[in-house]
Amino acid sequence: MPDAALAAAGEDRIAWAAAQMPVLRSIRERFAAERPLEGVTVAACLHVTAETANLVRALVAGGARTALCAANPLSTQDEVAAALAQTDGAEVHAARGEDADAYVAHVQALVALEPDVTLDDGADLVSAVHLLAPAHAPRMRGAMEETTTGLLRVRQLEAEGRLRCPVLAVNECWAERMLNDRFGTGQSVLDGILRATNLLLAGRTVVVLGYGWTGRGVALRARGAGAAVIVCEVDPMRALEARMEGFEVLPSLRAADRGDVFITVTGSTGVLRGEHFERMKDGAVLANAGHFDVEIDLPALREVARGGVREVLPLVESYDLGDRRLHLLARGRVVNLAAALGHPAEVMDVSFATQALCVEDLVRGADRAPGLHAVPEAIDREVARLKLAALGVELDRPTSEQQAYRSSWGVHPGR
Ligand SMILES: NC(=O)c1ccc[n+]([C@@H]2O[C@H](COP(=O)([O-])OP(=O)(O)OC[C@H]3O[C@@H](n4cnc5c(N)ncnc54)[C@H](O)[C@@H]3O)[C@@H](O)[C@H]2O)c1
Repeated sequence: MPDAALAAAGEDRIAWAAAQMPVLRSIRERFAAERPLEGVTVAACLHVTAETANLVRALVAGGARTALCAANPLSTQDEVAAALAQTDGAEVHAARGEDADAYVAHVQALVALEPDVTLDDGADLVSAVHLLAPAHAPRMRGAMEETTTGLLRVRQLEAEGRLRCPVLAVNECWAERMLNDRFGTGQSVLDGILRATNLLLAGRTVVVLGYGWTGRGVALRARGAGAAVIVCEVDPMRALEARMEGFEVLPSLRAADRGDVFITVTGSTGVLRGEHFERMKDGAVLANAGHFDVEIDLPALREVARGGVREVLPLVESYDLGDRRLHLLARGRVVNLAAALGHPAEVMDVSFATQALCVEDLVRGADRAPGLHAVPEAIDREVARLKLAALGVELDRPTSEQQAYRSSWGVHPGR
């Protein structure tokens, strides 16, 4: 159980995050008035952070009994867990650094609650329901998954014909893609690199490997900081998009001797290898923003570093190639989490606002068949509307004439 003595510090953190989460706050206020989740049990296996605590409190305000365990034992903020555990209607099963047995026991404790809705970051909870309580899975109103990796696992369950509840693919909705991946990761990846190195990006050449949802944000932010940006891609459509955005597009081997900073963000493996390291300039910086630490080939990097490896700054290792040094950040792990603080609370505000509305939709909306489902567009629109309202941005409304025009059909001679 979380240590109650830490609760006051946790409240401060939760309040700090809450101040950056106006969209979720407006949903929480409506939930408190309407109580749409009365009598519902929600179980969430997410990072136990101040932002998540605000989601849990919104669900509790809506009437849900809500239980939380950690999706990653290393990201748990113990003081937040302590504060949240004192909230009526919420329970927390998490401790920073918990071992594998404790981690599994905490997931199992949530399964034992027979939740109506599960929330996942990596699909451990929904997998555990299917493994440990298969008869309960079809009784659930549904589940939600917020990561690419988790969705792969859910898709595998579905492909094997074993998925027995509806799952909303939160990871693929507009809020995740546009705000979270592009703006949240884009900014925080550069934040991690700058915190670790304190480099001036203006005037330097940054090579972004992978121009997907996340890579686009990284490239955009690097250009904004004054860097010349080269994009490397394997997908012709993404490469063309990068070119049309004005980025130089090159095969990675030809970019290798041009870059000052290399950022991998592909979701693939061995993207920067020995043949790249051999061509890189003295002082080149290597950072990874992809999920796993396999995008930069670390064994190959150690092999070319004939002069050894030395940590020259916290989270900066210098690999001595004899005539040159290459600097690896955060041991090749996700640089925005290892060297910075991950996504800002404002980004999580939009993600978690979406998830709160998804819980409501699963509980109150029409029954869904077992299987993977897209987040309803109406939820994306509502979150965008609330976010604009929080920013004080107004937009036009179509006139009735425009609405009629856009919903008519036939042969229009035009004017
Ligand atoms: N650091 C974070 O906070 C964070 C946030 C979101 C996603 N991610 C991770 O970032 C990675 C990318 O996610 P995404 O959503 O942008 O995926 P995505 O599929 O939209 O984009 C990946 C891009 O990389 C390209 N690619 C694949 N192999 C390549 C190679 N060898 N060389 C060059 N390009 C290559 C693909 O063609 C694709 O365009 C994943 O591992 C994801 O889990 C990290």
